[in-house]
Amino acid sequence: MPHLFDPGPVAEPYASLARAFRAEWGPIFHRGRLDGTARVLVIGQDPAASEDITRRILVGEAGHRLQGLLAKLCIDRSYVMVNTFLYSVYGQSSGEQHASVPEIAAYRNRWLDAIVQHNPLEAVIALGHLADEAWNNWKQHAGAGAPQLAYAHITHPTQPESSSRDDPAKLSQATQKMLANWNQALQQLHPKIAHPDAQRPLALYGDRFAAGDKAEIPEEDLPPGLPDWMRSPAQWAQRTGATSAEKRSTVTVRIPG
Ligand code: URA
Repeated sequence: MPHLFDPGPVAEPYASLARAFRAEWGPIFHRGRLDGTARVLVIGQDPAASEDITRRILVGEAGHRLQGLLAKLCIDRSYVMVNTFLYSVYGQSSGEQHASVPEIAAYRNRWLDAIVQHNPLEAVIALGHLADEAWNNWKQHAGAGAPQLAYAHITHPTQPESSSRDDPAKLSQATQKMLANWNQALQQLHPKIAHPDAQRPLALYGDRFAAGDKAEIPEEDLPPGLPDWMRSPAQWAQRTGATSAEKRSTVTVRIPG
């Protein structure tokens, strides 16, 4: 059986946007459809180590959780995702300081302009408050001509881990809170998706992630030739090193299992 793959931003208007960068681990632009078929736009925060390797965003744990949320909206492939930042941010405070830096916002807004103009979008989902800030910045930039799209700003998929700092009780409380927040977004957005990829009744989350609540990263979302384990939720890539400079320059990849 032939394997599907994503050729990347090879056609305009995305090709010119992608030609503009090269630094350290390099920018990571997107995941999902660039062929004008996206119904849902997702704005994430910033790429992590696994995304540095796959060259597509939201492929790790956050991506699997999000993919499950999209599946509950009956969106299996008609989406496109971009991050607030093209590069990994070091620490949350660095993200806070830079989300609205004019040069960063201006470039991100060119991607958002291209996506909004070239796709029959029906909904936008922002993961976390920096993504919400990015969308609001774009709306201001787009002005009165911006289309009225259903919009949900949801808790970032790995906020429970980052807020609980290895405390299991806090983690389970934060997960429960996040899933309640996601259920609200599902109830708001599900009726607004007029052209889903499939017809399924809306199945809300319980108090914790249950079997089937996360979904696999589709093969057609990654560049050609990447092995299947790079689409698995296992933490197969990590920044390693004794100092932050070493961590900045080192990603250790280990095949899971
Ligand atoms: N990976 C991404 O690309 N974005 C996020 O927001 C989280 C993980």
